[in-house]
Amino acid sequence: MIQLAQPIIGDDEVDAVSRVLRSGALAQGPEVAQFEAEFSSAVDGRACVAVNSGTSALHLLLLAFDIGPGDEVIVPSFSFAATANAVALTGATPVFADIDLESLCLDPEAAERLLSPRTKAVMPVHLYGHPADMPRLRQLCDTHGILLLEDAAQAHLAAVDSVPVGALGDGAAFSFYPTKNMTSGEGGMVVVADDEVARRVRLLRNQGMERRYENEVVGFNLRMTDVHAAIGRVQYRKLCEWTTTRRDNAARLTAGLRGVVTPMERQGFRHVFHQYTIRVADGDRDEFAETLRSRGVQCGVYYPTPIHLLPSFSFDLQLPNTEVAAQTCLSIPVHPALSSVELEAIIESVNAVAGELS
Ligand SMILES: Cc1ncc(COP(=O)(O)O)c(C=O)c1O
Repeated sequence: MIQLAQPIIGDDEVDAVSRVLRSGALAQGPEVAQFEAEFSSAVDGRACVAVNSGTSALHLLLLAFDIGPGDEVIVPSFSFAATANAVALTGATPVFADIDLESLCLDPEAAERLLSPRTKAVMPVHLYGHPADMPRLRQLCDTHGILLLEDAAQAHLAAVDSVPVGALGDGAAFSFYPTKNMTSGEGGMVVVADDEVARRVRLLRNQGMERRYENEVVGFNLRMTDVHAAIGRVQYRKLCEWTTTRRDNAARLTAGLRGVVTPMERQGFRHVFHQYTIRVADGDRDEFAETLRSRGVQCGVYYPTPIHLLPSFSFDLQLPNTEVAAQTCLSIPVHPALSSVELEAIIESVNAVAGELS
């Protein structure tokens, strides 16, 4: 079976973890501080605060901007539930907007239609590694004096006009879950432009204290450990090369695939292909996926149910593009551990299934 995702863990990661374990200092410490400083170079030097997951990063990002009960945050429904969960966990209301069917990211016009006096922020997702339409969303947010936040969980090193995601909005959250473009085991990073907001994130991460036993606000324990930061630091050094390989693999897939809708890359945007997601426009996507698996190619549906229709939300809304995407999207392998032979096998299998089932 050709795997859909494959975290690449080598001796460097093992050595880094051993070093931390042998040091005896396992909790948040110097490795976390180093990881934050190093990751800052991926986001134009903005302040970075490492936490224990991407979900925590989103949650603290929203809280640090004082988002809470009575506020609304516009998000896409076509995403992982964490995007909306983080909003709901602050006590604010997620307001679900439709996507555009080309980029599969938040549609700025749909977002605009949902603005209300309670809207505090718009939080697009750079889905599958393709940046949302940040230039138009920036304009929208500036016109209405609201925050633009980025769910960059899937989009490390993606960019718009050479400005990296994480540096395009007022703040952003990244995930380092094992299947992401780089991992720390579990982990996340909050990125903000404003040092005072970064300080609030640091307080909320650590029981509300910067100095021991001087708790300034009520906070959580959402710290990253030095063990995880050590893995993240090694992986970050390889991220550029892995991203180039992902993009090369994607270009090869796009050149070879027939009979399915291949992913687009908007002019001036840099897609980092966390997922290579085709759309099965003719025929049944789930049958397509099963047939592809039976030929030895692992594939996945991200996401079969739009967030607004999950039992945890159950909002009665019409989001036509979101529903089409949920019924037709299928992610196939693109990760940097794929061999040339495997890439050819994926192309051959997808084309054969498309021919059989159309
Ligand atoms: C779009 C999106 N947002 C948020 C998250 C949450 O990240 P984590 O799993 O690290 O909590 C993920 C990752 O799964 C994601 O894909």
